[in-house]
Amino acid sequence: MKNLFLLPLVFTLIMSCENPKKEDKTTNKYVEETHSFAKPNIAVISHLDLNINVDFDAKAIIGKATYTIENNNATEIILDSKFLEIENVLADTKTTGFSLGEFDEMLGQPLHIAIKPDTETITVFYQTTSKTEALQWLNPQQTADKKHPFLFTQGQAILTRTWIPIQDSPQIRITYDATVKVPSELMAVMSAENPKVKTADGIYNFKMKQPISAYLIALAVGDIEYKAISERTGIYAEKSMVTKVHSEFSDMEKMVVAAENLYGKYAWDQFDVIVLPPSFPFGGMENPRLTFATPTVVAGDKSLTSLIAHELAHSWSGNLVTNATWNDFWLNEGFTVYFEIRIMEALYGIDRANMIALIGRQDLDDELESLKNTPNSTKLKLDLKGKNPDDGMNSIAYDKGYLFLRTLEETVGREKFDAFLKNYFNAHAFSTIHTEKFIAYLNKNLLEKHKINFNTDEWVYDAGVPSNQAVIQSDKFENAEKAMQQFLTNNKVDVAMTKDWTTQEWVHFIRNFPKEMTIAQMELFDDAFNFTNSMNSHIAMVWFEQAINKNYRGNAVDTKIEEFLTQVGRRWYVETLFKAYEKHDKVEEATAIYKKARANYHSVTATTIDKLLGYSN
Ligand code: BES
Ligand code: ZN
Repeated sequence: MKNLFLLPLVFTLIMSCENPKKEDKTTNKYVEETHSFAKPNIAVISHLDLNINVDFDAKAIIGKATYTIENNNATEIILDSKFLEIENVLADTKTTGFSLGEFDEMLGQPLHIAIKPDTETITVFYQTTSKTEALQWLNPQQTADKKHPFLFTQGQAILTRTWIPIQDSPQIRITYDATVKVPSELMAVMSAENPKVKTADGIYNFKMKQPISAYLIALAVGDIEYKAISERTGIYAEKSMVTKVHSEFSDMEKMVVAAENLYGKYAWDQFDVIVLPPSFPFGGMENPRLTFATPTVVAGDKSLTSLIAHELAHSWSGNLVTNATWNDFWLNEGFTVYFEIRIMEALYGIDRANMIALIGRQDLDDELESLKNTPNSTKLKLDLKGKNPDDGMNSIAYDKGYLFLRTLEETVGREKFDAFLKNYFNAHAFSTIHTEKFIAYLNKNLLEKHKINFNTDEWVYDAGVPSNQAVIQSDKFENAEKAMQQFLTNNKVDVAMTKDWTTQEWVHFIRNFPKEMTIAQMELFDDAFNFTNSMNSHIAMVWFEQAINKNYRGNAVDTKIEEFLTQVGRRWYVETLFKAYEKHDKVEEATAIYKKARANYHSVTATTIDKLLGYSN
């Protein structure tokens, strides 16, 4: 008789998290994730209703996040949080118990919330703190128009938890609604259905109806305007930038059409780009419906717009078919570089595509050289347990990933490869994919189907680059190399030889200066081509890198480098230049510049450079 009383308890235990059978059944759904505290097998979020106030005076986001949950008879749900102040939590409509676990430098704290087996929603009242890593609060001086402050978020890889308490794993997809209140002179936009004009009261409502991973939730607030390019594409920028940005990105609709022709329908209805202030830490970020981009790609001649093709390509590889864990990051980026280059080929021809591919090929060689003492980090499939996912975000995922796919394409033939990729995106739409699942799919649907032998495992699980790699060739680059030889031999520049060069040829030319090049030769080139004052950010960046490498100081290049580093926060650029200083024992000089520049950097860039220069704030 007594035992009968215990039955409900036993039953609850069996049904709860500790039940090994249940775990077994559901591990199929979620693979092990070391960068999130969430236990989605027990209770998982499915929809977010965010209601926040963006307070520029306090530099804080204050509000509440309500989640609809899928509850497996659980007694708690765990969210990720980092540097958040949690004020109160509700289970359905009633206040419930919660606790923050031990703080981890990288992951933050698990937020344990007590729920009942029949709880359907939870609500967390919270605010961000000054330590938040996702948010960058800009003063008017840091914007293009210099009149109003600006705010943007950066979620990838594990920063969304620093502005929203959430289950921050790419495997967990949610839809969301948001109500965001901002000062009435500003406009708010998100990775969602967006306003095209300002509201009078500064209140904006958003809806993202397709399920996305937490790292793709994004918000930007500033004095911005919208200008359409086509019915479903357009740009947001500050007033003084709108015209320039609009004409720079005027091929956006054509890019979407080219992409759809390759791998199927665009799944997100609208494709807009917002150009942010120059401290934005990335070239671009593929937030669904609204790519975030650096102004450094607005070159005036559309020469750097492969970045838009890249972020657009993520609408398939990344946003639609998402890497399950950050160890599978190459499935996001390698596929996206491949797709990007195919879009560029479709729009601008094979020459342009191959130049872009070769610049990436050289990036890969540089990366392999810099990682030569840690060969494990040159594998496509990574093991980032205990490491910050940021550490895995280098040229390997992008350019080795690309080379793998290009080699596959050349092995099986383009027609079969394209058919395979189209099916791959279709079959995995709105779900996540990990490396082993991809390999199984590849074997079944491409290699075995067409009886083709391929060393997939070597590409994915071994260090370095296999010997069957595709060879990328460009006449244009070969000409640029010949021109350089001639200029150096004659000690004289024939400007006519360079008259049709595009940005890609200039970048290749500058990056491939011979080791023994003299300062006099640097001067010769600078006088002829005025590299020091280049208005093209990529050309300027590779030239500055060489100036540091060769200790060239002509034409006040030092002042230009300092200006560049204090204005631009794009991590790839900034890191390349600081690395050059570091490599040439000029850490002191670098640190002097960094002290002035650091306040302008987003946490993502500052963290990287702090580490590189051994700088503590
Ligand atoms: N998703 C990335 C940016 C990113 C990667 C943010 C890892 C956080 C962690 C984006 O699509 C990207 O690859 N950007 C590149 C663009 C380039 C390869 C065309 C960049 O920012 O330079
Ligand atoms: Zn990318």
